Amino acid sequence: MIMAFKLAMEGFIVLCLVISSMDVLGAIASGVLQPPPIYVLGDSTLDVGNNNFLPGPSVPRAKMYYGIDSPGVPAGRYSNGFNVADFIAKSMGFLSSPPPYLMLAPSTGLLVSTALETGVNYASGGSGILDVTNAWQQIIPLSKQVQYFNDTRAKMVAAVGSAAADALLARSVFLISVANNDLSGFTIWELMQNRSAAQQPSDAAAFLAYLISNYSATITELYAMGARKFAIVNAALIGCTPAARVVSQPLGACAEGVNLLAAGFNVALRSLLATDLAPRLPGLVYSLADSFVLMKDFFADPPAWGFTNIASACCGDGFLLAQSACMPTSKVCPTRYERDQHIFWDPFHFSQRASFLTAQAFYDGPSKYTTPINFMQLAQSI
Ligand SMILES: *[C@@H]1O[C@H](CO)[C@@H](O)[C@H](O)[C@H]1NC(C)=O
Ligand SMILES: *[C@@H]1O[C@H](CO)[C@@H](O)[C@H](O)[C@H]1NC(C)=O
Ligand SMILES: *[C@@H]1O[C@H](CO)[C@@H](O)[C@H](O)[C@H]1NC(C)=O
Repeated sequence: MIMAFKLAMEGFIVLCLVISSMDVLGAIASGVLQPPPIYVLGDSTLDVGNNNFLPGPSVPRAKMYYGIDSPGVPAGRYSNGFNVADFIAKSMGFLSSPPPYLMLAPSTGLLVSTALETGVNYASGGSGILDVTNAWQQIIPLSKQVQYFNDTRAKMVAAVGSAAADALLARSVFLISVANNDLSGFTIWELMQNRSAAQQPSDAAAFLAYLISNYSATITELYAMGARKFAIVNAALIGCTPAARVVSQPLGACAEGVNLLAAGFNVALRSLLATDLAPRLPGLVYSLADSFVLMKDFFADPPAWGFTNIASACCGDGFLLAQSACMPTSKVCPTRYERDQHIFWDPFHFSQRASFLTAQAFYDGPSKYTTPINFMQLAQSI
């Protein structure tokens, strides 16, 4: 269990099972001695093990060979090592992402003390903005993650009082990356419905509007629960994953249809935050990170980022190692060196190194990757 965490300059405090309200109030009164907690919501790009605690055979889990590079065993992350949630938490001064909610939930004491000190990670691989997205896999949709956060908050309030809980949540970072599974699902839905190309634009517009209105309601709900600082990752260039390339025409190229859909979502998300939510919700601050443009930059000049392989997975089977999931019988890039040179670890997900570069770009990288401020400025804002 990752219970150790770094406190800037003040040495280390032993994590007690129950932290008294005095400690929390003391920490708040004496200024910002430690990084603000991080509450993480979203999909497999941020999941650090929640899915491993879910029952049922259809749940997607990150087992062997996941985690091959760090921590050396599968730790429920969809990566050969750490993921973006970990590297953002590291940038903020923690050792890794806060632990998964489902690991903490059985013990109220552990849940509350962790929530107060580091935050909690609710992300679930396969999940989307909508409950229907990948519902057959019995993952944790965003709406349920928000309920889990609300339950956590109620327990924090019971432990330290609402004033201290609200003060802590107001300076906490809410890191969210979701929508990629909804957007991928739309294409599948369209294919299944045999929709003609002529029907797709209006279908797509209605679908995006629905996604955005639900996302807006979700962010507003989190705000009502005390969240103020939002670090939001937009939709990725999902048509260029190895998984998308092996079903696209021409074979091996990026699937431009789903990229267009993601681009449309990103325009709407940007406008939602800037012209609707920020003006309407007093005290809300946000950083919107551009995963889409960052991936475009990876593909435009791979050597500049240290990549030699941009299209193939490192664990899987068949063409581009993307025609089956990464599992114990898969082919795997044999060396750490090779894995570091791939953008993708499995047919859908970044390698550890691509995750590191992503977190770096979002935390304090070039200004084109975040708007209107970067994650560092967000974390340090009052
Ligand atoms: C978003 O939609 C889901 C159904 O897909 C629903 O359960 C949830 O309550 C909605 N969220 C909000 C905040 O309205
Ligand atoms: C959050 O929990 C509180 C109780 O702590 C409850 O009153 C409220 O209705 C919940 N909000 C949502 C949106 O579930
Ligand atoms: C789409 O077309 C296939 C093949 O023609 C057919 O089997 C399937 O039922 C169709 N789906 C729908 C939703 O109409």
